[in-house]
Amino acid sequence: MISRDAKQFFFLSLGPAMGVNGWLYRRLRAPRTGAARVHLGPGIKTYLKGWVNVDANCFTGRCDLWADLRRPLPFHNDSIPAFYSHHVIEHLPDLRSHFREVFRCLQPGGVYRTGGPHGDSSVAKFIAGDDAWFSDFPDAAVSTGGRFDNYLLCRGEHLHILTLSFLGELLADAGFDAPVVCLPAKETRHPELFSECLATEWESDYDCPHTLIVEARKPARV
Ligand SMILES: C[S@@+](CC[C@H](N)C(=O)[O-])C[C@H]1O[C@@H](n2cnc3c(N)ncnc32)[C@H](O)[C@@H]1O
Repeated sequence: MISRDAKQFFFLSLGPAMGVNGWLYRRLRAPRTGAARVHLGPGIKTYLKGWVNVDANCFTGRCDLWADLRRPLPFHNDSIPAFYSHHVIEHLPDLRSHFREVFRCLQPGGVYRTGGPHGDSSVAKFIAGDDAWFSDFPDAAVSTGGRFDNYLLCRGEHLHILTLSFLGELLADAGFDAPVVCLPAKETRHPELFSECLATEWESDYDCPHTLIVEARKPARV
């Protein structure tokens, strides 16, 4: 895993260029018709064909748009039918403004499917002392607390603990329909929007999932 310092240096030095690239994209190429679905943070393995894949890492990963998700999203108001992100939002410093940006860009009736490390599950597994539920990524640890820290904070990479109540609060605050629906991996209430995403989700524990997944809808009339 790339060190936190290297990532900070990356965003410090290339952030302004990503800002310009995003601005140019919004001025010249961003869709206005509602035809393009947007995948935020595909990384190395989960590029979605036919979507606009947006990532800061266009060097070892693959993306269509090089942009920094900490900045305003480079899309027009009410223009996008669906956003998808998987294990990305926990890396963003200001989740409240991220959800407001997604809401701004979504068409009325559009949906955001997003997910990341499951705070509720991990607390339950920590209390139960179920060390096997936690992985050795990015570091191996022996104690339950060490494994819990490793999972939730990921060597300082994760900036938020994602629980259903917290996501529900932030999404409702941004204007999404409440209550926000939590779903098992590989299941969606909107197959017409997200069927391609499901195959990329890697959950193995359906009783106590590792990934908290929600689908939040922008009201049809705002
Ligand atoms: C843990 S990976 C998840 C990859 C993939 N979605 C998956 O589920 O396997 C997080 C991804 O988010 C991207 N990312 C994190 N912070 C970002 C930012 N501020 N702007 C753009 N992309 C960012 C990273 O480059 C990386 O590709």
